[in-house]
Parts: sequence; structure tokens; C-alpha cells
Amino acid sequence: MFRKIAITAVLATAVFTASVVAHANVKDPDVQARMELMKKIGGATKALGDMAKSGSIDAAVVVENANALASHAGQIEAAFEKEATDPKSEAKPEIWSDKDGFLKIAAQLATAAQNLAGAPDTLPTAMGQIGGACSACHKTYRIKK
Ligand code: HEC
Repeated sequence: MFRKIAITAVLATAVFTASVVAHANVKDPDVQARMELMKKIGGATKALGDMAKSGSIDAAVVVENANALASHAGQIEAAFEKEATDPKSEAKPEIWSDKDGFLKIAAQLATAAQNLAGAPDTLPTAMGQIGGACSACHKTYRIKK
């Protein structure tokens, strides 16, 4: 019994550590948090992209991921509110000097994800808009490392 509990605890620690290690060298908690948000955005987008590629579209899964993506996109403004910095950050200062432009792309992403949640069969075209918003923002506001 004790043995079983101990093993479960070790596994839980391993899983937890894995998610922390990805940004182990990030010292600023606000930078860490916005990176985690972007990672969640990446996860939902990958799930949608994989489905679009495979051609077998499960509407319920599309709706779930599109809603998650819309919700995460809605958190971009708050996550980047403070001009937090960290040597590991890939955020460009233009995020804060051109906040309107930055937030406009965040809003485009949220709208594209919301529209997709309401019409899951539009996945292939929606992926173009969603991917377009990712790259538009990254191109202007993210440092390529
Ligand atoms: C409004 C701007 C904006 C939009 C839209 C945006 N991103 Fe980002 N993304 C950023 C910025 C800025 C960073 C760098 C943050 C930092 O390092 O401090 C980033 C970083 C990332 C990272 C790296 C996170 C890490 O682990 O450090 C991933 C993955 C990512 N974005 C995926 C996406 C995907 C996928 C989309 C589209 C669905 C997207 N992003 C849309 C601005 C944006």
C-alpha cells in the first residue's frame, strides 16, 4: 500500500517537474506566466491543426479546442499588461510601444477562434486565419531566437 502511494507521488512529481523544467531558467514570474499561456495556445492550435491535416474532423473536439483558444486569446492582454522582462523572453519592446497593434492581432485570433467554435465545419479555412494571426503577431512582436 505504502509502496503504491510512493510510486504515485513520484510519477506526479515527474509530470509536474516536466512542465516546470521547460521554463526553468525563466526567473520573472510574469514572463513565465505569459509563456505558459502561449504554450496553451500552441497546444490547442496543434490539436486543431492536426485534425485539419488528417481530414477527420470531430466537431465536438473542434468546439472544445476552439473555445479554449478563444479564452486563452482573451487572456493575452492581461498577460502582457506589465512590461516584464527576462533574459529568456522573446517579447519585443514593440508590444508596449505599439500596444494597439499588438492587441488588434490578439483580438483577431480570439474572433477567429470564436467563429470556429460556432461553426466547426469551417476548420480548414479557420486554420488559415488562426495561423495567420499567430505568425502576424510573432513576426512583429516576438524575437526570433
Ligand atoms: C498578439 C500577439 C500574439 C499572438 C496572436 C500569438 N502569439 Fe505566441 N507569442 C507572442 C509573444 C510576444 C511571444 C514571446 C513571449 C515571451 O517570450 O515573453 C510568444 C510566444 C509563443 C510561444 C513560445 C512560448 C514559450 O514556451 O516560451 C508559442 C509556442 C506560441 N507563442 C504559439 C502561438 C500560437 C500557436 C499562436 C496562434 C494560435 C500564437 N502564439 C499567437 C505573441 C503572440
